[in-house]
Amino acid sequence: MKKGELLYEGKAKKVYATDDPDLLIVSYKDDATAFNGQKRGTIAGKGAINNRMSNALMRMLEGCGIPTHFVEELNDRETLVKKVRIVPLEVIVRNISAGSFAARYGVDEGIVFAEPTIEFSYKNDALGDPLINGCHAVALGLATRDELETIKVLSFRVNGALRGFWSDRGVTLVDFKLEFGRLPGGSIVLADEISPDTCRLWDSATGKKLDKDRFRRDLGGVEDAYREIMGRLEGTAAGSDTGRD
Ligand code: TMP
Ligand code: ASP
Repeated sequence: MKKGELLYEGKAKKVYATDDPDLLIVSYKDDATAFNGQKRGTIAGKGAINNRMSNALMRMLEGCGIPTHFVEELNDRETLVKKVRIVPLEVIVRNISAGSFAARYGVDEGIVFAEPTIEFSYKNDALGDPLINGCHAVALGLATRDELETIKVLSFRVNGALRGFWSDRGVTLVDFKLEFGRLPGGSIVLADEISPDTCRLWDSATGKKLDKDRFRRDLGGVEDAYREIMGRLEGTAAGSDTGRD
């Protein structure tokens, strides 16, 4: 597959055209931002880890019957994906209170919910990705009511599959963000990435944060945490040597 022109550069990824109009190449960067781009940094090795992890999780989800944009991992940082029209919503599923939920409602982090929650943010950097409800998303033409229903059902199924996957590896899935896209025929598929940038992942035994909160909150050990969570996924003890270059 030939890499064509750079179509888009985001905070953590670049997207290139290919010689097939239905396929794109995503290239993962080591750049990290937080708080709508106000905090910037680099996490060495992050691009390769997020690429491999996201692909492994998308393959696992495909195996559970969840349609995704994933086509083929091309190399350490680059993946071939189906071209989709992104639904401009960030879909956040939470199992345990943390982050903006804890801040918004004035509760501690770590409260285990009786059942998972879902919320949407409107993907709009100029507005700071504001929280939005389903009616407003439909009113603004961001998605149809049917699309929102599909997105909700798929998101809770993703949660079930991911929770079990991480729990088997001694990791608690606290919350995560998903994005969905429309294929040319209009059907909804899971897109974007699933990685330590987009999930909160806590060691089940110690509670240690193994995700981007280490960067957001200046907790230190950021690179080590990314390597450790990748090691858990691949079944290597420390994650320092995953057997790949
Ligand atoms: P929040 O608690 O800050 O709203 O974050 C909820 C989840 O969404 C958390 O796992 C981190 C992820 N997330 C993103 O992937 N991108 C973002 O821009 C934000 C704010 C959160
Ligand atoms: N998307 C956020 C940013 O704008 C990053 C985050 O908190 O994950 O920089």
